[in-house]
Amino acid sequence: MTMTSPKSRKQVPPRYDVSDVDLESIDGVLSTTRSVRLRLDLDRPVPNELIFDCIDVAEQGPGGGNQSSRRWLIIRDPEQKKRLADLYWESAGKWMVSARDKLAGTDHRNTSVMRSAAHLAENLDKVPALIIPCIWGVHDDSKKPGLFDSVVQSAWSFCLAARARGLATAWTTAILNNDKEIRDVLGIPEGVTPIALLPLAFSVGGDFASVPRRLAEEVTYFDSWGHTWEFPDDNQTRSIAEGPGVTVEVDVNAPPEKVWSFVTDISIAAQFSEEFQGADWAESFDAPELGAQFIGTNQHPKIGEWQTTSTITELIENERFGWAVGTDEASAAARWRWEIDELHGHRCRLRHTVRLGPGPSGLTPAIEAMPDKETLIIARRQEEHLANMRRCVNGIKALAEGS
Ligand SMILES: Cc1cc2nc3c(=O)[nH]c(=O)nc-3n(C[C@H](O)[C@H](O)[C@H](O)COP(=O)(O)O)c2cc1C
Repeated sequence: MTMTSPKSRKQVPPRYDVSDVDLESIDGVLSTTRSVRLRLDLDRPVPNELIFDCIDVAEQGPGGGNQSSRRWLIIRDPEQKKRLADLYWESAGKWMVSARDKLAGTDHRNTSVMRSAAHLAENLDKVPALIIPCIWGVHDDSKKPGLFDSVVQSAWSFCLAARARGLATAWTTAILNNDKEIRDVLGIPEGVTPIALLPLAFSVGGDFASVPRRLAEEVTYFDSWGHTWEFPDDNQTRSIAEGPGVTVEVDVNAPPEKVWSFVTDISIAAQFSEEFQGADWAESFDAPELGAQFIGTNQHPKIGEWQTTSTITELIENERFGWAVGTDEASAAARWRWEIDELHGHRCRLRHTVRLGPGPSGLTPAIEAMPDKETLIIARRQEEHLANMRRCVNGIKALAEGS
């Protein structure tokens, strides 16, 4: 492939020494490339040269078979933009506007996203340029990665390159529901797949913030699905000091409120776990509240029966219920948590986690007696918890999805 460049335009750097990287700037761009809709400058023209520069950067992304299969559509013509805006309006815009109006003035977590999404839907035809990254190929539903993996990363590089130049984008896909109509409007041939519509404009103001997301430690598993380490040591010692844990998740076809009523029942796990036998509120408590304590009974073939007192440390209605085995998280024998993430209003993802330690627990005497077996002891305990937590999570899913 020849790489010719019009003389007026600077090509992407031919070589770059990583020791020159200004990490703060790069991470700043990577973590503040937001979906910008309200702050798109609809009046300031965007030069084609800048768009080409962003596409050149994006084309450096990897592609299966090292083939040049990506194509980029830049929509500038007002009539073409109007046609796309009409399609966007039909496929999602109308709904976004009515959702915005319903949520206005409420503290629902989607209120501001809907205000922003509806604004874009109402103004799409006024955005200086609409970019549609496409790929030669059609998804065959084989479930094998391939087709889109050769375009998504480039399209995102485009958004990052744009942000670095003071431009803003929003990743949108709602219009793709109208596949035939988009092809008719834009003349996209069969055999080519459009993957997103990126409105492109200068941003009003250059400052954007990163947003709260789950920490790496919470969404990263080591060596096997569900195995977490809060303070993993680089030598893979796998000791109790590294904060071993387990995470189990399942999608539930029921609203968060319904699932919440099950997970806040402190004895619910006894229906499913082979170890946990049930719990009773301690003295003055009879319902979940921060600081409330309950006494749980457990049984294990090798250990026999034992009881623990736990303290509720987290309570956000319909979202998060957590407790420390002991009186607080800093000295807990273990920290347990249920989390519920709403999915499109009527469904949710149920997440159950445990972190062992940092305080002494039933594992402590075993580890003290056999320090050379610490890794094995912890690994076995993680497996036991994984199995019991899977039973609980699936059991609650079945209860919540039942009538
Ligand atoms: C696959 C995908 C499809 C999306 N489709 C739309 C869309 O059609 N319209 C829209 O306004 N935003 C769309 N978004 C943007 C999300 O709503 C946005 O990422 C979310 O609000 C979080 O905001 P942030 O990107 O600024 O973190 C989409 C994002 C992704 C990843």
